Amino acid sequence: MIMPFKSLLALLFVTAQLTTAIHVTHVSDCGVNRGCWRVPEGCTNSADCKAIVTWRHHRTSLTIELEAGLQNEGNDEWIGVGFSKDRQMGNDTVFECHFSETTPSTAYLSHNSAKRNVVLEKASSLLLKDAYAERFDGRGICGAEWKLDNFALSSEDKRLVHIISSGQYYLMIATGNLQKGKKEMHKMSGKLAPWISNEPTRFCHRCSASVNNIDFVKA
Ligand SMILES: *[C@@H]1O[C@H](CO)[C@@H](O)[C@H](O)[C@H]1NC(C)=O
Repeated sequence: MIMPFKSLLALLFVTAQLTTAIHVTHVSDCGVNRGCWRVPEGCTNSADCKAIVTWRHHRTSLTIELEAGLQNEGNDEWIGVGFSKDRQMGNDTVFECHFSETTPSTAYLSHNSAKRNVVLEKASSLLLKDAYAERFDGRGICGAEWKLDNFALSSEDKRLVHIISSGQYYLMIATGNLQKGKKEMHKMSGKLAPWISNEPTRFCHRCSASVNNIDFVKA
């Protein structure tokens, strides 16, 4: 069968949309071959999940994907998931995604200290492969293959990026605006304040926790 070029394009477009729509929310994989944190607890798809982060080990990397509702179609925005040993973000690693019209829409690693957050461009390019970030239907969807060993990093960056395959971490999801490519801080209260997991999880290569669901969310 020969398809007219236009229908072929339409078909490609629909296929691309479908694959995008199911890209991150692998909810049926949660607890089976992926670890997930769903907000709110027990949400089942992109319509009822406000945010979801999923992870899956692939040899020495973690496939991490993040999806959350964005506030405003016309705005440049970011979403990030923080990895914290203590439910504060005092010296912690963030996997974040930028959705922008003018600067690259992609994923980065950043370091959060009590007072500020700094994007780690060098560490991001060394540790994140196949990073992507796209908007779809009012949501931000992004992910990357995160190399879990930090050997390649400078000694400075080694102090700024947790080796998340060791230890256990509370997760936090935050969103905020991007102004000319720079993140503005997320809100600290109200409905735009970060979500914090009630329990920590682990990202060890072979332990059973690597397919953990952490569903509990602090109000
Ligand atoms: C901050 O975290 C890094 C990476 O996990 C660690 O090596 C460093 O010792 C920590 N610094 C402080 C002051 O806790």
